[in-house]
Amino acid sequence: MSDNTLRVGLVGYGFMGRTHANAYAQVGHFFDLERRPVVTAVCARNAERAREFADRWGIETIVPDWQSLVARDDIDLIDIASPNDTHHDIAIAAAEAGKMVLCEKPLGRNAAESREMVDAVEKAGVANMVWYNYRRVPAVTLARNLIDEGRLGRIFHYRAKFLQDWTISSDLPQGGEGLWRLDVGVAGSGVTGDLLAHCIDTALWLNGPIDSVSGMTETFIRERQHNITGKVEPVGIDDASAFLARFGNGSLATFEATRYARGHKALYTLEINGEHASIFWDLHDLHRLQYFDHRDEGTTRGWRSVHITDGDHPYMDKWWVPGLQIGYEHTFIHQVADFLAGVESGTPAAPTFRDALATDLVTDAVLKSATSRQWENAG
Ligand SMILES: NC(=O)c1ccc[n+]([C@@H]2O[C@H](COP(=O)([O-])OP(=O)(O)OC[C@H]3O[C@@H](n4cnc5c(N)ncnc54)[C@H](O)[C@@H]3O)[C@@H](O)[C@H]2O)c1
Repeated sequence: MSDNTLRVGLVGYGFMGRTHANAYAQVGHFFDLERRPVVTAVCARNAERAREFADRWGIETIVPDWQSLVARDDIDLIDIASPNDTHHDIAIAAAEAGKMVLCEKPLGRNAAESREMVDAVEKAGVANMVWYNYRRVPAVTLARNLIDEGRLGRIFHYRAKFLQDWTISSDLPQGGEGLWRLDVGVAGSGVTGDLLAHCIDTALWLNGPIDSVSGMTETFIRERQHNITGKVEPVGIDDASAFLARFGNGSLATFEATRYARGHKALYTLEINGEHASIFWDLHDLHRLQYFDHRDEGTTRGWRSVHITDGDHPYMDKWWVPGLQIGYEHTFIHQVADFLAGVESGTPAAPTFRDALATDLVTDAVLKSATSRQWENAG
């Protein structure tokens, strides 16, 4: 391998394992970087499926567990793309071994775990980042740029929702492969830590810190068979979660996530209303940003649907020609590109572990508020 290779050890070959493997494979084709990431080893629990994954992505080595991956001295970076209950121990071990660490979201199952992970990477002084990829949808990045330019003026409202419908059936078991999200011991929480975490990360990035929240959650199906024990067990996750929030900048917000919105598979939308202008974005139409500016000339004033494909839109000079759009997988490629650029420049790309801890503090406060029925501080 050439000297500029950044050797990645990947934990997990599932949904996120694939998006990350693709990002490492593609990034050097489109972005100018000093170092070229190569997944040199993958760790997995099912050796046969790991072999298939390694063959498909050209990965040389398969190791049986994450401990062996972290112990290898031919790995520069550990990338955690496994379920939430694995993040804490792997990230801390990787940091102590002096590796760079990338971790899927949510950082920990709760803020206490995340805080220990932040301490570990900061003590070791290793580069770190959390895969909140929606920040790097070009339309969302453009929203941030417009806010930074002051186009919206004072912000009054932030509104976000993330809707799915895949757990409505009471026959669906909990736990194990593919269904670990329903097992509270593995996931930490339900839609609050899974879906709302994305909405909160984007919101903190676009609109600043959240001061306090008032939340409610519901578990619609209270018992499910567990795939590992075979027994019918109580369901500990929240199936639906909604909360009100007050931001530090004085704006008011509503957030909602559920896996019980029949007809919706992954409807993430956000809207921001400012003094001069408003922004709306929808994951199902991710290459568009809806923008309304009250300062436009009155007779033609209205919502603009901006197709985010021009070379002066964020990231788009790296892709095709104006008018041709990109998609979901590109957000991960952008994230790797920014991470590597941050390592090169010495200015870390966000969200770092510390940035992602802020999201876990909000999700903890939402869950606490749902139980206490009080407003809770989110800082
Ligand atoms: N950024 C995003 O948009 C996004 C989307 C989906 C999932 N995620 C996050 O990514 C992580 C993985 O989710 P997924 O959907 O890819 O899950 P998945 O079930 O598709 O894949 C999980 C992978 O982890 C492996 N694994 C499980 N336990 C392990 C262990 N102890 N050691 C090593 N490998 C282990 C499994 O073999 C599998 O390959 C989760 O933290 C999830 O919250 C993020």
